[in-house]
Amino acid sequence: MARIVILTGAGISAESGLGTFRDKGGVWTQYDLAEVATPEGFAADPAKVHNFYNMRRANAAQAVPNAAHHALARLEAAMGDDLRIVTQNVDGLHEAAGSTRVWHMHGRLNRARCAACGATWDAPAVMATDDPCPTCAAPATRPDIVWFGEMPMYMDQIWDVLRGAELFVSIGTSGQVYPAAAFVQDADRAGAHTLELNLEASAVTSDFAEVRQGAATEIVPAWVDEELVRRGF
Ligand code: APR
Repeated sequence: MARIVILTGAGISAESGLGTFRDKGGVWTQYDLAEVATPEGFAADPAKVHNFYNMRRANAAQAVPNAAHHALARLEAAMGDDLRIVTQNVDGLHEAAGSTRVWHMHGRLNRARCAACGATWDAPAVMATDDPCPTCAAPATRPDIVWFGEMPMYMDQIWDVLRGAELFVSIGTSGQVYPAAAFVQDADRAGAHTLELNLEASAVTSDFAEVRQGAATEIVPAWVDEELVRRGF
């Protein structure tokens, strides 16, 4: 059972050069999320949606993990099963830094999914709807991404670890998308200490017992170093 549960958002990958969604110049200031991040948008124009994710997949493939991702991997190396990362991010930077206990609740850019049978497989660099499913051969390929209006992944496991958490840490998220934005309340109800590490106040900052503000590459390694000393590592 994880004693430390960490939620991450786009802000942890910002200093790796991947855009956030709602900051100035963010992804949703450049694209209409209804067109590229909803089942309706995909049904209306699958090629537009594939182009959007092909571009994001190419950007993510060029990005490298930053000091914040590496710090969380160091924490996992010490904590093992007592640490769980729940990420809203669809990039693979936690894994690239060495983290293994990661649940991608909004899916992953580097996976494809069959809209007909649900099979998933490693995404090609350029994905198209007509790519035949390797399991059922249907030409029904979509990004393995959770769109608005769809159920996030791993929710049963996430509620379970939140119930047993001693410490809940939120890193780099604006707290505007549910159910992730309510995790702090669930952790608080379970008696966990709650800590927000973010560049600025989020929509749920007031729900946290402790708040530290700054760039993830500065405040996350500093917090991890403190936590390792506090736990005697
Ligand atoms: N260090 C720390 N925090 C940062 C940094 C940084 N260098 N840069 C930006 N931030 C913070 C911003 O202040 C903001 O609060 O990261 C947060 C990013 O918020 P969003 O752009 O809303 O991204 P996120 O919270 O991850 O969005 C949640 O919305 O569109 C959906 O599925 C998508 O997973 C995404 C979800």
